[in-house]
Amino acid sequence: MRATRRTLAALLVLAAAVSCTAAHGDDAEPPHASAVLTPYERLLPAPVSARASGGAGYAFGPGTVIRTGPGPGEEVRRVGELLAEQLRGPSGLPLPVVDGEEGSGDGDGIRLRLDARARELGAEGYRLRTTPSGVTLTAHAPAGLFRGGQTLRQLLPVRGAGEVPGGDVTDTPRFAYRGAMVDIARHHFPVDQVKRYVDQLAQYKINTLHVHLTDDQGWRIAVDSWPRLAAYGGASEVGGGPGGHWTKDEYRDLVAYAARRYVDVVPEIDMPGHVNAALASYAELNCDGKAPERYTGIKVGFSSLCVGEERTYEFIDDVLGELAALTPGRYLHIGGDEAHSTPAADYAAFMDRAQAVVAKHGKTVVAWHQLANARPAPGAVVQYWGTDKTAAAEKAAVATAARSGHPVILSPADRAYLDMKYDKATKPGLAWAGYVPVQRSYSWNPGTHLPDVPESAVLGVEAPLWTETIATRADWELMAFPRLLGIAELGWSPSASLAWPAYRLRLATQSPRLTAQGTAYYRAPEVPWE
Ligand code: ACM
Repeated sequence: MRATRRTLAALLVLAAAVSCTAAHGDDAEPPHASAVLTPYERLLPAPVSARASGGAGYAFGPGTVIRTGPGPGEEVRRVGELLAEQLRGPSGLPLPVVDGEEGSGDGDGIRLRLDARARELGAEGYRLRTTPSGVTLTAHAPAGLFRGGQTLRQLLPVRGAGEVPGGDVTDTPRFAYRGAMVDIARHHFPVDQVKRYVDQLAQYKINTLHVHLTDDQGWRIAVDSWPRLAAYGGASEVGGGPGGHWTKDEYRDLVAYAARRYVDVVPEIDMPGHVNAALASYAELNCDGKAPERYTGIKVGFSSLCVGEERTYEFIDDVLGELAALTPGRYLHIGGDEAHSTPAADYAAFMDRAQAVVAKHGKTVVAWHQLANARPAPGAVVQYWGTDKTAAAEKAAVATAARSGHPVILSPADRAYLDMKYDKATKPGLAWAGYVPVQRSYSWNPGTHLPDVPESAVLGVEAPLWTETIATRADWELMAFPRLLGIAELGWSPSASLAWPAYRLRLATQSPRLTAQGTAYYRAPEVPWE
């Protein structure tokens, strides 16, 4: 592939410059990766195919308009308006959005078009073509136009109007599910911080935000039928801070904000363990009828719902019913991890009933991979979070589930957990799965990662951010960036384009963009940052 060869050539140039500097000890700076990669080679995640045409490009200027073609409802128009919002700040241009209906659709500028015949582009794929008259984005569905718009953002300079070089991109994702998770239970975060994350995710083509809404330390979502969950169970967090919770309107607002960026929100209520905040809120949920104190430490595995008590199932029916009503997407995540205080038979019996409740409310179950040791319901998705050291039998249970048709989401903790420290000098974070430097986080293949789980069984990848040690936006971003970009690429790009030497250069070229957006990323030493 031409693009790959060029990237390798660029790597050799850069590597030679770096070793030359080291050998001679002089102060000459090695060339920036952006000096040796064309804009089409810098794209992250790497597209299926991208090439500069060698011909003239399109110069953005004060007259540039965004022309949106016809589509379902006003959806193409809305994609165009959001793209205009995203481009106006960096470019400083007015970028009006106009209807490119018959007649005027061929004018200069940015053109967004649906093509009903372009079935090969699927739900999220797109084509982008740049010529002197403009940039044309073509997709089979509006989500593809949005994803292509994110590619266009990367082809423009970080600041100023600039020119998009002539060229073509054709692009579709490798995996349908490309996720990030955030734990707002260990530390409470406001919806605005999570919206900011949605923007950061969407620009790297991540399409799912999984929100870990409840845990021992806090219950973060209002439930009308059990109001003390949020009002009392939400008023705590790790370290003794005030905690907090989201109202239903705040949650709906987040879901709508994400949907506009073609990001689905998957809410998680973790059960039957990780429930101290619920047990503290309602004595009747405890087998002994006594509510424990709220909890602000970081131990796991000590709490359990009362599996033999019918009131427990009324509780989960109410909670999951209200959550399903707030959720336009297909999935409800019911946790199921680290239920160390629930005997195995009770766990299996409980998960049978919890899965039936999800189905009753018209949703599909996602659960952490411990569900594979019980009885996953038809269609249930298992989310693997083990490490290279996880016992073979535990991995085999996931493979058995996959063979029975359960899709698998891969979140291997020793690669994809964003809360693992990069190295011993990282201040926030944990290290129970080992240190996870940027290179390690990127260097695995979701299609072959788990023995006997073929690529066809892999729904996708997800990067969780647990927040036992993370209480500020700065620490959140330090841990997520840049590793999140690598997970985004593993989820989107063809396996043939995944190679660390080329990726580290692409990643390096993202630093001015991250900086311009105010993202406090970790300047990993193995990346030749700009
Ligand atoms: C987990 O990290 N307990 C899913």
